[in-house]
This record gives sequence, C-alpha cells and structure tokens, in this order.
Amino acid sequence: MASLRPLFITTALPFSNGPFHIGHIMEYIQADIWVRFQRMQGRAVHFVGADDTHGAPIMLKAEAEGITPEQLIDRIGAGRRQYLDGFHLSFDHWYTTHSPENFALSTDIYRQLKAAGLIYVKPVEQFFDPVKQMFLPDRYIKGECPVCHTKDQYGDACENCSSVYAPTDLINPYSTLSGVAPVRKSSDHYFFRLSDPKCIEFMKGWLDTPGRLQPSVANKAREWLSGSGDQALADWDISRDEPYFGIPIPDAPGKYFYVWLDAPIGYLAALKNYFDSGKARAKGEQRSFEEFLAAPETEQIHIIGKDIIYFHTLFWPAMLKFAGRKVPDHVYVHGFIMLSGLKMSKSRGTGLSPLRYLELGMNPQWLRYYIAAKLNANVEDMDFNPDDFVARVNSDLVGKYVNIASRTAGFVTKRFGGQLGQGPFDSALLDDVRAASQRIAAYYEQREFGKAMREIMEAADVANAYIAQQAPWELAKDPKNDAQLKQVCTISLNVFRLLTIYLKPVLPKLAESVESFLRIAPLQWSDSQQLLENHVIGAYEHLMTRAESKQLDALLGIDEAAAKPDEKATGPAAASAVNEVTVEDFAKLDLRIAKIVAAEVVDGADKLLKLTLDLGDGQRTVFAGIRSAYAPEQLPGRMTLVLANLKPRKMRFGVSEGMVLAAGPGGKDIFLLSPDAGATPGMKVK
Ligand code: 2FM
Ligand code: ZN
Repeated sequence: MASLRPLFITTALPFSNGPFHIGHIMEYIQADIWVRFQRMQGRAVHFVGADDTHGAPIMLKAEAEGITPEQLIDRIGAGRRQYLDGFHLSFDHWYTTHSPENFALSTDIYRQLKAAGLIYVKPVEQFFDPVKQMFLPDRYIKGECPVCHTKDQYGDACENCSSVYAPTDLINPYSTLSGVAPVRKSSDHYFFRLSDPKCIEFMKGWLDTPGRLQPSVANKAREWLSGSGDQALADWDISRDEPYFGIPIPDAPGKYFYVWLDAPIGYLAALKNYFDSGKARAKGEQRSFEEFLAAPETEQIHIIGKDIIYFHTLFWPAMLKFAGRKVPDHVYVHGFIMLSGLKMSKSRGTGLSPLRYLELGMNPQWLRYYIAAKLNANVEDMDFNPDDFVARVNSDLVGKYVNIASRTAGFVTKRFGGQLGQGPFDSALLDDVRAASQRIAAYYEQREFGKAMREIMEAADVANAYIAQQAPWELAKDPKNDAQLKQVCTISLNVFRLLTIYLKPVLPKLAESVESFLRIAPLQWSDSQQLLENHVIGAYEHLMTRAESKQLDALLGIDEAAAKPDEKATGPAAASAVNEVTVEDFAKLDLRIAKIVAAEVVDGADKLLKLTLDLGDGQRTVFAGIRSAYAPEQLPGRMTLVLANLKPRKMRFGVSEGMVLAAGPGGKDIFLLSPDAGATPGMKVK
C-alpha cells in the first residue's frame, strides 16, 4: 500500500527553447496520474516543475531572434500555463531555473563540493569560433565525416555511417554559427571529481539500495560506474566560458556553471520558492523549506525520460551527497512516445502537437486514459496509434464505463425522484468491485497503470453484463417491478461510483462531473469502502463524447486524398469541390514564420538552394527551387513563411523538411513571401 510519507516529486525540467512537445506532456500526464493517486490516499504531495533556462542553445536562439535570453525564457514561460491547465496537470508550483533561489543554491552546493575537495581546474582544448568569439558546443560544429567522408556532419556523430567521434576529428570543420573554420584554443575548466573513491563508493551504495531504481536503470548506471579504460567514469566538466547564459561560478571571472549543473538544483530552487511564497503553507505544510527537506521522512522522487538517466543517477545524487544534502529516494524512468515507431521529435515539432490537440477541442482525458492504458513500470517506448486511440477511448470509456450510468441513472431520477435504494444489496458484483480496490491501488502505486486500467475495464464489463441481463428498460415497463428496478439501478450506480474512484487519477474532470451528478463530496480512495444508500442523486448529464477518426487525422495532419488514392473525384462538380476548401482543410496546414539562418547552393542541382530555417523550436533543412531568383548570400537573416507539416521528402541531396512559400511564375520572377516586422520564428500563420 501507499506510504504516507510527505512527498516531493518532480518531472524533468524542460528547456526554455520551445513550447512543450508531446514527450513532455506524456511525462507530465504519467507523473500527474501517480500524484493524484497519492493525494487520494491522503498523502501530502508537493509536485513541482520549472523551466530549464540556461545554456548556449537558449542564448544563441535569443540572439538569432534579436532578443535577450531573459525575454526568450519569459516568453516561453508565459506559454506553459495553457498546456498545464489544458491537460489537467496538477503541479503545485511551476518555476524557473533563472531565479535568485537557484543562483544561491547552485553557488552554495558548488562551495560545499569545493570544500569537500571534489572540485579542480584543468585546461581543456576546444574549438573556438574566431568570429563569434566563443567556444563551440559540439552541435554547432560541422564538417566531413572522418570515416565515410559525408559532408556536413555534426561534431559528435555521422548521420550517414553512425560513427561516433570527437569534433576535432572532423575534416574541414566549420562553425554553423559563422561558417568559418574554428580554431583550437585552450582554457581552464572546472571539474567535479566524480572518480574520487568516496564518490564511487557512495554512488554504488545509492544505486544498490533495493527498490530505489527500476532494475534496468540500476544496471545501466552500474555499467557506467564500473567502466574501465576508455569507458571509465570520467570527472565531470561543470564550467563553460563566457559568453554563456547561466550562473557565474564564484571567484572564477568569465566562467559559468554548465547548464546541467544548475538544472537539477532547479528542482530544489523551485521547491524553495514554493515554500517561501507561502504556497506550501496553504497546503498544510508548516515547516520551512530546509526543515522539510532535512526531515528523514520526506520522500524525494524524480520522474525522467530514459535519455537523461546518466545525469540523474550519477551526477545528481553525488552532488547532493557531498554538499551535505538529502539525496533522491527514487528516480523513475520512462521510455519515449513514438508515432508508428518514429520517436516524436523533440526539436522538429513533428508528430503530435499537444497544442493542436487542445485547439481541435479534443478531450484531454482521452489522451490521459490512452497513455495510462498503455503504460507499465518498465522503461519501454510507447507507440501512439491513432486507430487504437479511437478504439480504446470509445470502447472503454464511453462504451463500458460511462455506459453504466447512462443506462441506469435516468430510471432513478424519473421513477424514484432521484432516490437510491436501501441496502444490504447482497450483490456479488458490488462485492467484487469493492474488493478490487486494493489490487487497483497496488497497481497505481507500482506505476502499473495499464494493469490498473485493465482491471477497471474488466469490472465495467461485468457490470454491463449484469445490466444487460437485468434489463432495467424491461423492468421499467411494469410498476410491479419497481423494487427490483430500483435495486438494479442502485447496484449499477454504486459500481459506477466505485469505478469513478478508481479512474479519478486519470480522469479528474470527469470524476468532478460525476461527483456533482451523484451529489457527493470529492471522492477519496477510502470512499471505496462505503456505498450509497437512500441517497438522492441529481439528473444525469452526458459525461463524455466519443473520439472521432477525423479528429485524429486533423491532429496528425493526415492528408485524406493522399491516403486514399483510388477515391479520386471526377467530373465538374468534383472539380469545384476540389477548388473549394473548408476551414478545417485550411487548418491542416501548419504554416509558420521561419527565419532563414543559412542558404547554400546545392552541387548538382542548379535550381535549388539548401535553406536552413529557424522555426522557433529548432532548425530544419528545406530545399527550395528559388536559385534562379535569389543568390544564397541575399537570404540569411530574412524572415519568410514555411509549410511546416509538409511530409518530409527524401531527395538526392538530403531530406527536405517543409516548403517555403513564394509567388510568381518562375525564373527571375520568384518572390519569397515575408511577414510584417515583429513576427518571430515559429509564429503560426492563420
Ligand atoms: O533534457 C532536458 O530537456 C533537460 N532540460 C532536463 C533537465 S532535468 C533537470 F535536471 F533539471
Ligand atoms: Zn560517416
């Protein structure tokens, strides 16, 4: 059963370089389901998130947009609420790593690590951009792959032959920021001595604590820890040179903490702000931030994706330990969400847009349920399948669960003035559904949400079979069956109420509607031990609509005509139908403002220019047939319009990921479209 220790729980802090993508929302939904379950158990929960605001990519993105990093992170921060509210995510607090609390805590933790003898300085040689006057992170260096000689490969790995190498191995490297060849330059870097025997010993003990991590995660971390030779655990480079957007290292002019040092400290900074602002007190927590964290019974849990295990299972516990602080009790790791096997891209914004989901008026609880139904406690990727989504939502939620109330509640209001019958009910169905409470609670507790949903839906199946067999609509035809009719409806609605308790962590708003229709107080888990007798309920109102395939098509930008090539329309009526589009058709086009970051001629294609576009949430490549009208040097810095959800096209020269919009017949007469001044990359055109 659930422990009632006070809980401090976080999800990974999203970078402030773009809006939430579906991977974020999937993580938050699963954390939120668990948190809501814990709250229903009566547990004190402090569920905290924040924006991860520092680092070179955010600094450079702001620069490309002609704004300060502070303006950028404020804009991104202001956009968070619509998603958090939209998907019913019940964070107690959402904050930022660019905060006085984080500056103070990061500085303090660093000083403690230094006092523990775990910080040292050593020169590091890296690529430096002489035009931008900055050291270049790997992702800003490109060149020819040293293995297969493909051009334009990133500084860490080749997309063509998958070789992994150091940026200094690239042939003819160039800076993607200025285009010039970088030079090698040395500077002093600050290191956290993770290889110190006391760190290793601590990390081993932390990882080996039974139940702390999922077994596959603990194994992975153990592998890193026990590596030798090339694979030996290296000390961690925690500094970056100016210019950098981050937290200055004390007594080290021109040096900043690497973003991954201050980001997890941002968990604590967000909690501190939540305490200091009085919000924790308003939730019944009287202690100070420091007292709360120092208390042995406080449980600290981080929920993260599988790509950031290293930081959370090695660096972060060691930092806390040797700064004399509480270490995390658990780190729970999940896989990625995939669309037909493709990872939904973090940076390209392709796939399933959470904002579009909301804009289309789709019920957020459908997604919450779908995710819950597919989740288990292992680190497995989850496939988002639109047909499966529609089938599960409609069959389980509408066809099974809501159906129980919609088939029985009307008789109670119409025939009995809303009054339920009197027990005892002598119902095996009711006894079984009540007895399932502990099993379902155990599944929630273990984050086996899929198993919990299956158990709930099996109970709903049995309830529907009972209703079908009792046929209240037949009983209602003759008043002499009134007692039995009332009994059948009372049992059914009690089952419905129990299932509502079990589904409440997943469907919080629907549960609220049920509470108001049944005229009962907010349901807690322990309410599953009571039943409603003689109670007067309100009128039933429809609780949930069905999901439609066309909503999923609109969400995923599926082109119906292209999907069904043999259903082509013919004849004059069809021609005009083809010329007319509906607003829904237009809404399928994801038109965005883009900034042209770079333009290059393409060897062997005299009509094309290869454009690198900034779409606000990342860069992408588009091949445009505009070379007859534009020289490449005319274009960088220019704003234009791009069709962002055009299916990527594989061309001889690379993949084109969109289409820039231009007018004119061709040749010299091609005119790129531009927005008015003030538009920024990523803005939607509508
Ligand atoms: O991978 C990411 O998106 C990081 N911003 C996660 C940081 S989690 C924590 F360390 F703050
Ligand atoms: Zn290669």
